[in-house]
Amino acid sequence: MKCRTIRDIEVCNKRVLMRADFNVPLDDGHIIDDARIRAVDPNVHNLLARSSSVILCSHIGLQCGKRVPKLSLRPVALALEGVLGRKVTFVEDCLGPVAQLAADSMMPDEILLLENTRFYPGEQNNDSQMASGLAELADIFVNDAFGSAHRRHASIVGVAERIPAVAGLLLEQELEYLDGFLRAPMRPFVSILGGSKISDKIGLIESLLQRSDRVLIGGGMANTFFRAQGIDVGASLVEIDVLEEADGLLEIS
Ligand code: 3PG
Repeated sequence: MKCRTIRDIEVCNKRVLMRADFNVPLDDGHIIDDARIRAVDPNVHNLLARSSSVILCSHIGLQCGKRVPKLSLRPVALALEGVLGRKVTFVEDCLGPVAQLAADSMMPDEILLLENTRFYPGEQNNDSQMASGLAELADIFVNDAFGSAHRRHASIVGVAERIPAVAGLLLEQELEYLDGFLRAPMRPFVSILGGSKISDKIGLIESLLQRSDRVLIGGGMANTFFRAQGIDVGASLVEIDVLEEADGLLEIS
């Protein structure tokens, strides 16, 4: 599973728009776990060392299509400054004149963070205007948002269709791990999955059930499986719409 990455593209004096996954847990504006923020460090250092300027964008929180102040990426800008040891300029838009002006004024070696892509209704519909607006900010697009790469959103799919696009180093690393595990797994092969929802992982779980000796489900998504077996899970998150599919997966296993 090979993909073109930032190593395969000339970035000198170019503006690079990088879609990261900064969907970090927040508590009253404080970041509880900054692992996803630290994960962009190798990309940003690689790109800046090659004289490009880096524009970062991401979603945080669920799909909403409107501005929700407590889901601003501003705290992420501060955390990024700490992680990267560099100034990170934050703009309160990811589209339109303010974002465009900020992008146009960038010099090589500078970093800009845009506001939450999910504040815009066009994000989740992969709206062409939104995708074009994002594409106009930069010369090159980098997708490093492994956790979001399955979403047909404007900041993932639409923008990649409009300007030269490559994978980031984290995305490459995740694909290499997956490829190795799935092609020639060491036995016993145990798959461990977490997260809150199974609705977007049904195909994945089906496939892992064929290949794995064991599949372990943790996190919120385990509740949907408990509920499918008639176990009371109190007020815990359950995806009622996919109970039948969960039952089917239990049947297969
Ligand atoms: C995640 O945290 O799993 C990713 O950021 C994707 O988030 P989403 O399920 O809200 O699209």
